[in-house]
Amino acid sequence: MMNASGFPQTRLRRLRYQPAIRRWLQTTRLAADQLILPLFVRHGNNIRQPISSLPGQFQLSVDQLPAELDRVQAAGLGGVLLFGIPAEKDAVGSDSFSDEGIIQQAIRACKAHAPDVLVVSDVCLCEYTDHGHCGPLRTVGSLTTVDNDATLGLLARQVASHAHAGVDVLAPSGMMDGMIGAIRGSLDGAGFSHLPILSYAVKYASAYYGPFREAAESAPQFGDRRSYQMDPAAAADQALREAELDLAEGADMLMVKPAGAYLDIISRVAQRFPGVPMAAYQVSGEFSMIKAAAERGWIDERAVMLESLVAIKRAGAQIIITYAAHDVAAWLQN
Ligand code: PBG
Ligand code: ZN
Repeated sequence: MMNASGFPQTRLRRLRYQPAIRRWLQTTRLAADQLILPLFVRHGNNIRQPISSLPGQFQLSVDQLPAELDRVQAAGLGGVLLFGIPAEKDAVGSDSFSDEGIIQQAIRACKAHAPDVLVVSDVCLCEYTDHGHCGPLRTVGSLTTVDNDATLGLLARQVASHAHAGVDVLAPSGMMDGMIGAIRGSLDGAGFSHLPILSYAVKYASAYYGPFREAAESAPQFGDRRSYQMDPAAAADQALREAELDLAEGADMLMVKPAGAYLDIISRVAQRFPGVPMAAYQVSGEFSMIKAAAERGWIDERAVMLESLVAIKRAGAQIIITYAAHDVAAWLQN
């Protein structure tokens, strides 16, 4: 015996026979203008160096950016996220807050060539420090780790120089306590109160960042990032605390990273802060696993990539940072 709401009166398959009806029912749609493409910018000239662990991605010298931005604009992508690989690294990551730094040059080149393409800058020190950590180090007893409060001052200088170079959105990724407040204060003090902050509020200490560290030449030279990035096994509520603090300090948008293995976190944060724009980063390892399996013929690259991105969006992130942005834009066209 079935009640009125059950079988055979109710047959959910009725809504699945017609392709057009299946499309009626879609509430999650990918759009190219909500995808952000990461770009790796290095010193030098005429360089377009393939990154072996990130198929189809390159380290680019600044002179290569105009052609790259033309492609981004033609594809209708939502913007680019810039990472810099400096010529010289030191203990405090000086290149990152120099007005002649690699990222400052890159921002100026992008905005001069294609002012309508949105430029987001990754705000951190790990690509710029010789030890590869996300801020200057400090030893207290037997613990050597990033000096939180000394890092804040450097990040404040970094964002002001990005802003002077013309950046559109700042995306701090270092997981320092008080980071958003320090950055907001610096921007406001320098006359950039209109520039939004996309905070990597919820960033886990993840092995999925492996290929990125080759791409950005930013692997820590000793130890790991567990004393500042979040523990994947920590209570999911810790993510809500991180998000709440960043919002209180002035974050305009929140990011969860990685994305695919953290859909529960995206969903929790999105539900806890409705109306706050949410981004998620499909990180290097997520992308490369799909590429590698597809290269072996084990999975259908297009289908798996689209399914992965739809899942991220369905969980609650409307903005997705992905190395597959160009592929997806092309797929959505046909
Ligand atoms: C820098 C940063 C990292 C990523 C984005 N910003 C690396 C890290 O934290 O070690 C990873 C992105 C990716 O894997 O694609 N703090
Ligand atoms: Zn970092």
